[in-house]
Amino acid sequence: MPRQWQPPARAGRAADEMNEEPDTRAVTRNEDSSSLRNRIGVGVLAAAFAFLIGAIVVALRSGEKPSADPQDARQVARGKSVYDRHCAACHGARLEGQPNWQERLPSGRMPAPPHDASGHTWHHPDAMLFGITKHGPVPGKYASPGYQSDMPAFGSALSDEEIWAVLAYVKSAWPEKIRRVQADMTRESRQR
Ligand code: HEC
Repeated sequence: MPRQWQPPARAGRAADEMNEEPDTRAVTRNEDSSSLRNRIGVGVLAAAFAFLIGAIVVALRSGEKPSADPQDARQVARGKSVYDRHCAACHGARLEGQPNWQERLPSGRMPAPPHDASGHTWHHPDAMLFGITKHGPVPGKYASPGYQSDMPAFGSALSDEEIWAVLAYVKSAWPEKIRRVQADMTRESRQR
């Protein structure tokens, strides 16, 4: 019967046998490296935690983004005054749009549509209404490539708050059911 396999004697053990003093250096070195490992572990954990907090803050902030709230009477009142000054000339004093707004003008461009429930403003989520008002119907983004439009960009004339306010005013003219449909659309588009 062959002898059972034995692990080769470790050099350390051989050294211990020769030297009665326990090798304290090795112990200290071990302690050093494990506390270093601990410190790295704590660092990684802290970084991960900081990242998590950051992500939560960003998520909360984006949920709190200023938006158009038709229930907010002050925002709606502010929006009406912006609308009367900047939008009514084309979209109509009562949001009714230009006459025959579904037919092309001789220029080939579209007239200004109503912003009330008879139009298609409510077919779009908030971010898109905001974007069109601020930047115009940018071809390739909000309209097909090469699209030409008479809708001006208001980014230099109006602040973001004024744009949200005017959208709140527009929404306040919609019946409850349409508001809800458009609010659902806005929520879904945020999740995408
Ligand atoms: C000079 C005329 C003019 C003014 C002023 C104007 N618009 Fe428009 N707007 C248009 C036209 C024309 C369109 C149709 C765009 C197209 O299809 O080419 C339009 C379209 C829009 C749309 C897209 C609606 C949809 O259903 O797709 C929004 C939103 C809009 N306007 C918001 C505003 C707001 C808010 C103001 C005021 C701050 C404003 N517009 C002022 C002419 C105007």
